Amino acid sequence: MPPDELTLQPIGFIRTEKKPLKFNARHQPDEHQAETNLLEMLPGDKYQKALKDLAGFDRIWLIWWFHRNKDWRPEVLPPRGPSKRRGVFATRSPHRPNPLGITPVQLIAVKKGHLVLGPCDLVDGTPVFDIKPYIPAYDAFPSAKAGWIAEVDAALAAPPAYTVAYAPQAAEHLNWLRDHWSIDFRDRLQELLARDPSPHRTRRIRSRRGELFDIGCGAWFAVFKVEGQAITVLHFKPAFPLKFLTDPSRPEIPDKNAQLAFRALWPKLLD
Ligand SMILES: C[S@@+](CC[C@H](N)C(=O)[O-])C[C@H]1O[C@@H](n2cnc3c(N)ncnc32)[C@H](O)[C@@H]1O
Repeated sequence: MPPDELTLQPIGFIRTEKKPLKFNARHQPDEHQAETNLLEMLPGDKYQKALKDLAGFDRIWLIWWFHRNKDWRPEVLPPRGPSKRRGVFATRSPHRPNPLGITPVQLIAVKKGHLVLGPCDLVDGTPVFDIKPYIPAYDAFPSAKAGWIAEVDAALAAPPAYTVAYAPQAAEHLNWLRDHWSIDFRDRLQELLARDPSPHRTRRIRSRRGELFDIGCGAWFAVFKVEGQAITVLHFKPAFPLKFLTDPSRPEIPDKNAQLAFRALWPKLLD
């Protein structure tokens, strides 16, 4: 009888600026970022020997564990495309029965005790189980069909169906966030809303009371309305309630000081 449980041990852990907060890891690595990350190997000569001959490969596969996931779902709502559930095995969702991730990451350098890697989609502290060389002749099949993803890509290549404009108050908030806090949501809003402003859980678009909607942007919400094909963003507001922002046991809230400053400047926009 084959065993119904297998035991795997990590060979190392990822060290990255992407802390395990909800908003700041990419869905797939952003290859345009000049970003470096480390894979810290567990100590021991054996691992060091196992890295021999790896230098010279541009990329390696990392096989890793979505260690922050607690559950899995047979059907998931992918972040891209229409609001439609897909079988988890037809997606790259983290919510899998065995939450294994794979990433073909750039290998920048092999050092003693660690690898220097390019952009990756793993959060800090993620356990890595295995490394394999990425071999284009074996691993790349550029003309292979990509099912529903190809359909979504084709739809995304079409011109956007909606226009996105900013009411004076939203423009004031955007400028304030950019000038005082170096936070800018214009690209995200254009990319997501101009395609499809309908409610979507992973795109964080919700219907609110009346004709209004909001969309989560990092630690903020943008409130908007839709008239025909015209979207108007009315204002922004902080996503975190005051009791979280002032709770010293929650130091890791993103944009905490910016959210507090916003509350002081625009106290009427918080509900
Ligand atoms: C969509 S998955 C794709 C993963 C991988 N490229 C794959 O195909 O298996 C990437 C997302 O997983 C999440 N993630 C990264 N490390 C994680 C971890 N250790 N535990 C849970 N979620 C993680 C991040 O939010 C990231 O945006």
